[in-house]
Amino acid sequence: MYHGSPKSEVLMNQLFSNGTLQITEIAEQDQVAYVEHFRDPRIHANTLRLPFPYTMHDAYEWIEIARQINTAQPRPTMFAIREATGKLIGGCGIEAGGDFQQHVRVIGYWMAKAFRGRGFASQAVRWLSGYVFEERSVRKIVANVFAGNEASCRVLEKCGFRREGYLREHYQKEGRTIDAIAFGLCRTEWERRSPQ
Ligand SMILES: CC(C)(COP(=O)(O)OP(=O)(O)OC[C@H]1O[C@@H](n2cnc3c(N)ncnc32)[C@H](O)[C@@H]1OP(=O)(O)O)[C@@H](O)C(=O)NCCC(=O)NCCS
Repeated sequence: MYHGSPKSEVLMNQLFSNGTLQITEIAEQDQVAYVEHFRDPRIHANTLRLPFPYTMHDAYEWIEIARQINTAQPRPTMFAIREATGKLIGGCGIEAGGDFQQHVRVIGYWMAKAFRGRGFASQAVRWLSGYVFEERSVRKIVANVFAGNEASCRVLEKCGFRREGYLREHYQKEGRTIDAIAFGLCRTEWERRSPQ
């Protein structure tokens, strides 16, 4: 099990950078930062798959899974959001749509507690949307937000996503059902907002 060092040099392909934020692939050195950030119960409460409490072993396994996902595809789909120093402060990723939805991608994202409210998740989602639509066959990006997660709804609205519906008892997690709000961004809307 690698534990990395926060001081390890992060030498990674930079996919996005604006001087404050960087988006790169996930690296072995991120193990400690994942454990630190996922102590926040709000991230667990608003996402589907994160174990809680989140251990060093969970982070080790996730980093390996992300590496496999990213290398098995023509281009990476699981990303680290970093501050300028290179420290991991958030994450975002892309998954395939369901059956008969080859034209759809599903996005997810989180931001560490200490870095919220500065527009970072919105910048990441804007970049991610452009990255997704670089694939010409993709027509639509979707995200389902747990009801009550107003910050996440706001992120999507700021990035041009439209609220498409209210999904009653849509997910089941830890023995209870969860309502969700469906958001979508179609290529046509994206192109109107971001002319090529
Ligand atoms: C959702 C999340 C990613 C937002 O990250 P962030 O970096 O703070 O997002 P931004 O700063 O880009 O935007 C947040 C917006 O929500 C607003 N907001 C925050 N809390 C809010 C609330 N309780 N009600 C309404 N709006 C709220 C902020 O004011 C901001 O909008 P503004 O720019 O118009 O002022 C972060 O809160 C998070 O990681 N939450 C836990 C995991 C999660 O929910 N992931 C998404 C799953 S769908």
